[in-house]
Amino acid sequence: MSKIEQSKTACILAAVFVASLIGNAQAQDITYSRDIAPILQEKCVTCHNPEGIAPMPLQSYQQVNPFAALIKDRTSKRIMPPWHIDTTTGIQEFKNDASLSDEQIATISSWVDSGAPEGNPAHLPTPIEIPSGSAWQLTEQLGPPDLIIKSTPFDVIANGQDQWWTPDVPFEGMEKDRWLRAAEFKPSYPLGKKVVHHGHAVLVPEGETRQVALARYGVGKSWEVYPDGTGMKVPANGHIAWNLHYFPVGAEGEDDVVEVGLWFYDEGFTPELETAGEAMFRVDGLNGMARGQDIVIPPHGYQVLQGTHVLDAPAVIHSYRPHLHMRGKVMTMEAIFPDGRKEVLSQVNKYNHNWQISYLYADDAKPLLPKGTVLQFTSVFDNTVNNPLNPDPEQWVVFGRRGVDEMSHAWVGITYMNEEQFAEAVTERRARQEILTVSK
Ligand code: HEC
Repeated sequence: MSKIEQSKTACILAAVFVASLIGNAQAQDITYSRDIAPILQEKCVTCHNPEGIAPMPLQSYQQVNPFAALIKDRTSKRIMPPWHIDTTTGIQEFKNDASLSDEQIATISSWVDSGAPEGNPAHLPTPIEIPSGSAWQLTEQLGPPDLIIKSTPFDVIANGQDQWWTPDVPFEGMEKDRWLRAAEFKPSYPLGKKVVHHGHAVLVPEGETRQVALARYGVGKSWEVYPDGTGMKVPANGHIAWNLHYFPVGAEGEDDVVEVGLWFYDEGFTPELETAGEAMFRVDGLNGMARGQDIVIPPHGYQVLQGTHVLDAPAVIHSYRPHLHMRGKVMTMEAIFPDGRKEVLSQVNKYNHNWQISYLYADDAKPLLPKGTVLQFTSVFDNTVNNPLNPDPEQWVVFGRRGVDEMSHAWVGITYMNEEQFAEAVTERRARQEILTVSK
C-alpha cells in the first residue's frame, strides 16, 4: 500500500468511526421526555388513559417504561395504533389516519434499543387535555347535535357469548323532513365504549319498509360528516330500528343506553347530492345464493371469496370499512373501470375483528367512479394457527352472526350522481390538479 493509499484508508476509517459515534450519540440521545412522550400524546393516549378503551395508560414514564419492549413490538409490526390498511398499495390519504410514520416507528425502536432512557423531565411536552369519552366528538367542529336519539336500556353481562339488543323506538323530535349533515354514534362511557362492538341506528319511515341508515358504528368508527352539499334525507316520522351487538369483555352494568347525535343542514337548504351513507357491498352470498352459503373454511385452511358489484350510476366513495370476523385477514377493494383498467382502491391486510375501522378518504383522494365501474372485493380468511385471533383452528367455519362464525361484506360510504354532477366533480378535481382515480 502506498503512503497516499494508507492515509486515504486511515481517513475513511476515521470518518466511519466518527459517523458511528454520531449515530450512537443520536440513538442514546433519544429520551422519553423529549422524543417519545410527544408521539404517545399524539397517537396513543386518547385510548391509553385510565378511562380509555386500552388495557393500560401510557401517560408517564413510570407507566410506559414496563411496556417499552411490547410498545416496540406492536408499533414496529404496525398493530398499534390500530390502522390496518396496507400502506404499500391503494389510496393513502385519509382524514382519520391514526398510523405512525416510519420515522416515528424508528424513533420508538431506537429508544427501546438504547435502554428506554427517561431523559430530563423538563423536556416533557405540556400534557394535552384528553376529551372525555362521554363528550360528542363532533362538538368541536359542529357544535352540539341538533337532535339526540336513544336506545332503550340494556343490562350488560360480564362474560358469555355475543349479545344482541334490537329495540324499536319511535322517532321523535322533528316537525319536517330534514337533510342530515353529520351523525355520531355514542355508546355510554366508560362501559359502552368497552362492550358495544358495533351497531346501527336505522330509521324506518312511517308506512314504509325502506331503511334510512342514520348512523352505523364499530369500535374505531363512530361518526360521519358528509361533504358540503351532500346530505341524507331524513323523514320526520317513523321508528328507529336499533341493532346493537354487545361483546362481553368482563365489564358489566345495568341499563346501558346508546345515543346517536344528529346534525342537520339549515331548514330550507337542499344539498345538491343525496347520499345513502354507508351501503353494504356483499362479498358472501352473491348470485342468488343464500346469504353466506359460500363460506366454508376448512380446519387449518384458508378461503378466498370474491364479490363484484357494477355501479349503474357514477359515484364518489367517501369511506371504506371491511367487515369480517375472527378468521378474516384481508379485504381488498378494487375498481375495474369501463375501459378495462384495474386499480386497487384500498386494501386492509391486517384485519382484526376487535376493530371496525372506517377509512375516511381525504377529499381530494375520494375515488370518483364512472357509471359501469365494477367494484371488486376480495376477502381472505385464515383458519390456521398463524392467525392470533383464531379461537380454534380445528373447527370448520361457516357463515353466522357470532364472532366465531364468519361473514364478509364491506360498508362503503357512497354517493351516486347523475352524469352532469359527475362531470362537474371530475372537472373540479382536475382543477385542483390532484392525482385522479377516474377513467381517463
Ligand atoms: C383507538 C384506541 C387506541 C390507540 C389510538 C392506541 N391503542 Fe394500543 N391498544 C388499544 C386496545 C383496545 C388494546 C387492547 C386490545 C388490542 O390489542 O387490540 C391495545 C393494546 C396495546 C398494546 C398491547 C398491550 C398488551 O398487553 O398486549 C400495546 C403495547 C399498545 N396498545 C401500544 C400502543 C401505542 C404505543 C399506541 C400509540 C402509538 C397505541 N397503543 C394506540 C387501543 C388503542
